Amino acid sequence: MTLTVEVVRKWDEAHGICGFELRRPDRGPLPAFSAGAHIDVHLPGGFVRQYSLCGSPSCQDRYEIAVLRDVQGRGGSMAIHDDVRQGDLIRIGTPRNLFPLDAEAQRHLLLAGGIGVTPILSMAEHLAAAGTPFEMHYCTRSSERTAFVERLADPAFRERVQFHFDDAGADQAFDLAAVLAAATAQTHLYVCGPRGFMEAVLAEARAQGWAEHRLHYEFFSALVQEAGTDTAFEVRIASSGASVEVPPGCTVIAALARHGVEVLTSCEQGVCGTCMTRVLEGQPDHRDSYLTDEEKAAGEYFMPCCSRARSPVLILDL
Ligand code: FES
Repeated sequence: MTLTVEVVRKWDEAHGICGFELRRPDRGPLPAFSAGAHIDVHLPGGFVRQYSLCGSPSCQDRYEIAVLRDVQGRGGSMAIHDDVRQGDLIRIGTPRNLFPLDAEAQRHLLLAGGIGVTPILSMAEHLAAAGTPFEMHYCTRSSERTAFVERLADPAFRERVQFHFDDAGADQAFDLAAVLAAATAQTHLYVCGPRGFMEAVLAEARAQGWAEHRLHYEFFSALVQEAGTDTAFEVRIASSGASVEVPPGCTVIAALARHGVEVLTSCEQGVCGTCMTRVLEGQPDHRDSYLTDEEKAAGEYFMPCCSRARSPVLILDL
């Protein structure tokens, strides 16, 4: 389901980062969301991109997103920076949350790298309002590239948020190992940011013995393996028995679509989980960033927008 919203405010949040406030044209309430949720944003040029909601979940009449202009990206961030203006009407999807706070956790450790602060900020807003203990570390290249500095200076956050700038002194550098080691066994960890940052955080947490259920993360860009060594395989549709050949360089989604079988997608990069499909037989070759290592090893589900097959045939629950 999509909604039409008005860009009521567009502003420079930090160097290279624009903020957008979206409201219904009649200023009525928008669908509720929980901290960590994202929306699909339909952009000029036919792009559909996912952006985390960075406002307070208690604010029901507006959504806020912030976008880093990425000249090396796939074009979505340039389109929203350059072609979306204050006053424009745009289409968005309703909020979905694949990165929720754990309601059972007693403490929360929030780690943000760069523009990965957007879902983390919404979590901080929610936890501060609920009076739930949390600690937040926000790592960026420099203070000029740091979004939401003023908002995080609010007394609700000041004591709980620490900034770490790459270009500042060693006394404020982020000591990941020490921060993780100091957390209690009841603490849950949430991390969002550039892939290298997230991988470093998760590797250190696992090395320190953090259980998987205490680790929460959201990759917002994918590293989908290139097609150079891919081989063809066959996908069979359990409900109809139809068989579809997936040649090298073609995704399962695209091959199925050619045969009239539509699977709902969103990111098409193995990040969001929208296309997740049950595998009844065969061995997937996972290329996504969504499933955990355990889920990949179990082989029960795979992401047909980017993953392939190790076995000659995959039978899908479609
Ligand atoms: S469409 Fe997002 S994981 Fe496949």
